[in-house]
Amino acid sequence: MSEVIRLKNVKKHYSMSDFVVKALDGVDLIINQGEFTSIIGPSGSGKSTIMNIIGCLDVLSSGEYYLVGENVAKLSERKLSDVRNKKIGFVFKSYNLLSNMTALENVMLAGKYARISTKECKEKAIESLQQVGLEDRMYHKPNELSGGQQQRVAFARALFSSPQLLLADEPTGNLDSKTSKEILNLLTELNNKGMTIVLVTHDLDIASYSKRRIEMLDGLIVRDILRGDE
Ligand SMILES: Nc1ncnc2c1ncn2[C@@H]1O[C@H](COP(=O)(O)OP(=O)(O)OP(=O)(O)O)[C@@H](O)[C@H]1O
Ligand SMILES: [Mg+2]
Repeated sequence: MSEVIRLKNVKKHYSMSDFVVKALDGVDLIINQGEFTSIIGPSGSGKSTIMNIIGCLDVLSSGEYYLVGENVAKLSERKLSDVRNKKIGFVFKSYNLLSNMTALENVMLAGKYARISTKECKEKAIESLQQVGLEDRMYHKPNELSGGQQQRVAFARALFSSPQLLLADEPTGNLDSKTSKEILNLLTELNNKGMTIVLVTHDLDIASYSKRRIEMLDGLIVRDILRGDE
């Protein structure tokens, strides 16, 4: 199985005026292609920090990070943003959609910097909306969609570039439990089709949708278990 993520002794320290916050304090982690992993832990344990590092949104203080075999710890900001655009899809708690644009236009924004024609961009966006089961709502604006549907548009946008890795930081944080289930079923479906997924959550029930659960505490991974091995 091929490796998507390899972190070696990764640290992220923030120097404050009179002390140092050790947001990550020596993390080793390998995630292979096709895995569905959740990261769980209390507030402040380092979940978003590790996600931001995995997602190349932030740089490490020390250690090594290989993304699909590429050493990204030493890349310039420009190269990092290139890696981000091509290899990684992001979904957050807030949907971050533009309110004056339709679902389709919102997804097409993901192709803005790809050197493709508008026609191809539209085709790819429609394909992504089909993947999340929202093709019948593509001309709706965000305020004409439910919360779950808006989050699906955000997933479609994340899938636009056919990323090798999908990162979701509390993607159901703004949704009721029924809609959360739908989104988690969508994640399961995408994973069944081969997508590598890392999901951050506070909630053990949500984490139970993933095949592997990583527990964090004080900037460290304290448990790493496969479903069924508990
Ligand atoms: N820019 C920053 N400067 C200083 N400290 C920071 C910074 N960002 C995060 N931290 C600290 O690093 C630690 C980890 O933060 P992080 O956001 O990763 O936690 P989290 O597990 O995502 O928490 P939550 O569940 O509340 O989202 C916290 O103690 C936080 O205060
Ligand atoms: Mg967080």
